[in-house]
Amino acid sequence: MRRILLLGATLVPLMAAIPDIESSSCPRRDEPKYLGSKSCQKCHYKEYASWQKTAMAKSFEALKPGAAAESKKKAHLDLAKDYTQDAACVACHVTGYGKPGGYPEVGREWTVEEKARAPALEGVGCESCHGPGGDTSPFKKDNKDYKWADIAKMGAIHPDEKTCVSCHNKKSPSFREFIFADKIGKDTHDLLKLKRDHGCDHQHREGK
Ligand code: HEC
Ligand code: HEC
Ligand code: HEC
Ligand code: HEC
Repeated sequence: MRRILLLGATLVPLMAAIPDIESSSCPRRDEPKYLGSKSCQKCHYKEYASWQKTAMAKSFEALKPGAAAESKKKAHLDLAKDYTQDAACVACHVTGYGKPGGYPEVGREWTVEEKARAPALEGVGCESCHGPGGDTSPFKKDNKDYKWADIAKMGAIHPDEKTCVSCHNKKSPSFREFIFADKIGKDTHDLLKLKRDHGCDHQHREGK
């Protein structure tokens, strides 16, 4: 065992010196990209329409100067400040912050492409709770009766308490206690019954 570990350790520097031939002929798979909520609309029209009306869909607005005056006062925030440029705020108020295809990091110059994609990723979008659609959306197009296990490998997330609490936590200046059982399904979107059986490892909720 010990010998194997030592051998491993001596191989590392050797490998680092060799040009990365393997990865150029067979590129390492990229992380799936975020596509924005609009990309989900054509296949999930009702979810999209009901999501659009929620506070989370509009949550980027709250960071703008003059917006959400009452909440800002209570949380001792500066009503005149433009928090859309503040890295300490943006991650929880947008979709896929700093991830491939996601909302670009603030505090640096954006490329033309980043400037173009950012508006569609403002607010807490579909992919904030369901994972990036870059691989799952094209796959589902051709495999309407996909297996859950297949799309889970492509980054699909089944939203649970952990998903919500990644934002609904004490780092939020306006944090209110978050009781998952009370909030789940509320103010997210209408939950419809799936048409097909995807062999899910989880129970699906239905309702508002
Ligand atoms: C990417 C961050 C993020 C995730 C993930 C997230 N939320 Fe939110 N949520 C927010 C933000 C930001 C607001 C504030 C929206 C506003 O009022 O501008 C909010 C507001 C809400 C509200 C309305 C205000 C309230 O507290 O009653 C509900 C309900 C809610 N979220 C439920 C959930 C549930 C349930 C989940 C998980 C399934 C979830 N959220 C996941 C960021 C998030
Ligand atoms: C850890 C994630 C997180 C961070 C960081 C965060 N927020 Fe939020 N924000 C939320 C959530 C979640 C809510 C919904 C209420 C709650 O439970 O806090 C919210 C609600 C708000 C609201 C109330 C919206 C309304 O419609 O009344 C304002 C304003 C706000 N945030 C501004 C900010 C500002 C400004 C910052 C940075 C100083 C910030 N947030 C940082 C998650 C976050
Ligand atoms: C080309 C069509 C298409 C697009 C685009 C699409 N989906 Fe789907 N999606 C489907 C189909 C088909 C199903 C299965 C529906 C059923 O069985 O009723 C599905 C199911 C789902 C489910 C349920 C997953 C499960 O099995 O538990 C979620 C969540 C979902 N999609 C989210 C999204 C999100 C988020 C986007 C955008 C990033 C998106 N979809 C884009 C076709 C699509
Ligand atoms: C704040 C988190 C959150 C956001 C944002 C969100 N969803 Fe969901 N979504 C959920 C939860 C929670 C469920 C229920 C999961 C379960 O069955 O336990 C769900 C279920 C679904 C399902 C399966 C059931 C159904 O209603 O068909 C689809 C499809 C879906 N979402 C698509 C979308 C699309 C498209 C968007 C954006 C327009 C979106 N979701 C935005 C949390 C979210």
